[in-house]
Amino acid sequence: MGARRFILLGPPGAGKGTQSALLVESLSIPQVSTGDLLRAARKAGTDLGRKAQLFMDQGHLVPDDLVLSLVEERLSRDDAKGGYILDGFPRNLAQADALDSRGIVVECVVNVDVPFEILVGRIAGRRVCQGCGATYHATNSPPRTEGVCDACSGSVGQRKDDDAAVVESRLKVYASETAPLIDFYKKRGILRDVNGLGSTESVYQAVLAALGS
Ligand code: AP5
Repeated sequence: MGARRFILLGPPGAGKGTQSALLVESLSIPQVSTGDLLRAARKAGTDLGRKAQLFMDQGHLVPDDLVLSLVEERLSRDDAKGGYILDGFPRNLAQADALDSRGIVVECVVNVDVPFEILVGRIAGRRVCQGCGATYHATNSPPRTEGVCDACSGSVGQRKDDDAAVVESRLKVYASETAPLIDFYKKRGILRDVNGLGSTESVYQAVLAALGS
């Protein structure tokens, strides 16, 4: 079988990261999350990471040239040769055009749909391991011991940009910059809508069905 490339599209808190982690297991292709790549660059203190921080902390998109350089490097690695799940990328029409201009053909775009009022609660309760990045929710799916990651015993806390004021900005940016991609990929006939409400497992089954897997 040829390389399988998918995009998970959806607003902040829709569950893209949660679903990607499950898909990595079942499809044996890596998750390429631009949010994770940017956070890793920040943590490593690279020049790109420092520049990106200013935008991320305000809930704005990081400039395309910075994001594209990270994505290009990531997709050139050996483990991406058999395909990948793009999580949080593309995030605007210019980024979608950049994929096209590089000849990258995407099989399917899964649009995870969750009402805005639910997103706010999900993001407010999100807890993330500072060590391995595992995602929890304070009430829906907490770690066994508060503040301690089940997987790596790392420290579990809130993401800096999950602060209420920043979330408001991220949701606005999603509506103006990212939501137009829904029509963009619908016109191409590769968009599949998935209801992101319900248990993680039921959403996962819907995502698999949308991917035809
Ligand atoms: P990024 O890290 O991509 O954040 P995001 O798109 O805002 O998405 P989130 O990580 O908030 O949500 P998610 O959909 O992954 O939800 P999750 O699975 O965690 O981007 C961060 C920043 O980086 C951006 O603001 C921007 O500055 C920059 N950036 C990133 N990519 C960029 C790009 N391409 N271009 C420019 N800038 C870029 O779930 C959320 C919570 O809900 C969790 O607690 C989870 O446990 C819970 N949950 C999940 N599923 C369910 C369910 N079914 N039921 C109940 N709870 C659930």
